[in-house]
Amino acid sequence: MSENLFDNLLHVKSLFRDRRALSHAFNPQKLPHRRDEISALVNNLVEALRGHAPSNMNLYGRPGSGKTAVTRFVCRDLESKGAAEGCNISTVEINCRNIDTKYRVLAEIGNRLAEEGDDMIPFTGWPSDKVFNRVRARMQARGGVHVIVLDEIDHLVKKGKEGDDLLYSLTSLNIGLLDSAFCCVIGISNDLAFTEMLDPRVQSRLAPIDVVFSPYNAAQLEDVLRPRAYRGIMDDALDEAVIPLCAALAAKEDGDARRALDLLRISVQQAEQSEVSIVGINHVRQAQNQLEFDQITPTIQNLPLQQKLVLFSIIINEKNGLSNISTGEVYGTYELACNNAGERPLTSRRVSSLIRGLDMAGIITAKTTSRGRHGMSKRINTCLPPSFDALHVMRSAEPVMDGVVDARYRLQNKL
Ligand SMILES: Nc1ncnc2c1ncn2[C@@H]1O[C@H](COP(=O)(O)OP(=O)(O)OP(=O)(O)O)[C@@H](O)[C@H]1O
Ligand SMILES: [Mg+2]
Repeated sequence: MSENLFDNLLHVKSLFRDRRALSHAFNPQKLPHRRDEISALVNNLVEALRGHAPSNMNLYGRPGSGKTAVTRFVCRDLESKGAAEGCNISTVEINCRNIDTKYRVLAEIGNRLAEEGDDMIPFTGWPSDKVFNRVRARMQARGGVHVIVLDEIDHLVKKGKEGDDLLYSLTSLNIGLLDSAFCCVIGISNDLAFTEMLDPRVQSRLAPIDVVFSPYNAAQLEDVLRPRAYRGIMDDALDEAVIPLCAALAAKEDGDARRALDLLRISVQQAEQSEVSIVGINHVRQAQNQLEFDQITPTIQNLPLQQKLVLFSIIINEKNGLSNISTGEVYGTYELACNNAGERPLTSRRVSSLIRGLDMAGIITAKTTSRGRHGMSKRINTCLPPSFDALHVMRSAEPVMDGVVDARYRLQNKL
C-alpha cells in the first residue's frame, strides 16, 4: 500500500500546545498594560448596572493596540455582571469594515435584538425608517441598556453621509425616542481625526468620552506575549531570545500586538518545518521575511498597470546600479517600458503622482531635495525586502508585463 502524503507530518510532535492561544481571535484572560483603558470603559459602563445610560465613547489607537480586545473583555464582564444583578444589559458588536452601510448596521442590530417569533430584517429592501423603527421597538421591548459597539467605524464615516446618518439616528434614541431603555454607542477607530469627519450636529450629540490607546513598547509586548506563549507553545520549545526579539521587531512596527503574535506563531511554524525542537532567532528572522512578503505581494499585484510600469522603471535602474534615482531618470525608462507594453505614456506630472502613490504604499521612498537654482528634485529608492522578486510578482499578475520585463533597455550607467 502506498504511503499517505500526510503520514510524515502527522507523526511529528508539534511545538504548539494550543495554537489558538496565538491566534488573533483568541480572547485572553488578562490584558497587561491596558489598565487605564479598561478603567475608562468600566467607570463609564458601570452606569448601565445602575440603570442609567452610560456616555457614548470613542476609542482610538494604532492597529494592534488592543482596542477590540479591551472592549470585548469589558463587555463580557458587563454582561455577566448584568445577568448576576438582574439588570437588563445587551451588547452588540459590529465591525463596520464588513458591515459598512447605515442600513446594514441597523438591520444587524435589529436582528441581534430579535426575540423568538420576531421576523428577521432583510439584508436590503426595506425603507430605512422602517428598519430604524424596528430597532427602536426591539430595544424598547427588551428594555434596559443597549451598548452598541461600532468597531473600525472609520470605514463607515469615510463614506460621508452614511456614518453621519447612522450616528445621528443612534444618538437620537436617547433623546426621547426610547422611554423604557437606553442606548450607548462605543465607536472604535484607528484615526484620531475621525470625529472631525463628522457633521457638527452629530459631533455635539455624540459628546463622547475619548480614550486613546497608546502603542505598546517592546517591554510591554513581551508581557503581552509571555502568557500567550505559555499557553500556546510547549515548555522549553523557545530559545530565551525569541520573545524579546518578536517584541522588539513589533515595537518598531508601531507597537502592534497583532504583529508580535504573528511573528511568534510563524517562528514556531518555521521551526516545525525545519524539524527542530527549539525555536531560535533565525526562525524569527524567517517569520519576519515571510510577513513582509505576505504584506507586500498583494500590494504589488494589485497596482494599476501604469503604476507597475513606473515601479518597473525604478527597479531596473536600481538593478543597473543607480540609487537616489531622479524623476527624470524614471520617466525616461518609463516611456520605453510603455512602448514595450503597448501603452501610451502619461505626462511626467501624472507619473510624479504615481511615484507619490508608491511612496505612500511603502514600496519606495521618494525624498524631495533642493538642487539649488535647478529647483527641486526627487531621490527615489525602492524599499522592498532584499530577496523579494517584484519583477516576478508583477509579471505573474499582469501578462503584458512579460514583454516589458524581457525587453532590453538602454539605461544611464552607474555614476
Ligand atoms: N494587552 C494585551 N494582552 C494580550 N493580548 C493583547 C493585548 N493587546 C492586544 N492583544 C492581542 O493582540 C491582537 C490585536 O489586538 P486588537 O485586535 O485588540 O487590536 P486593535 O487595537 O483592535 O487593532 P485594529 O485597529 O487593527 O482593529 C489580538 O489578538 C489581541 O488579543
Ligand atoms: Mg480592532
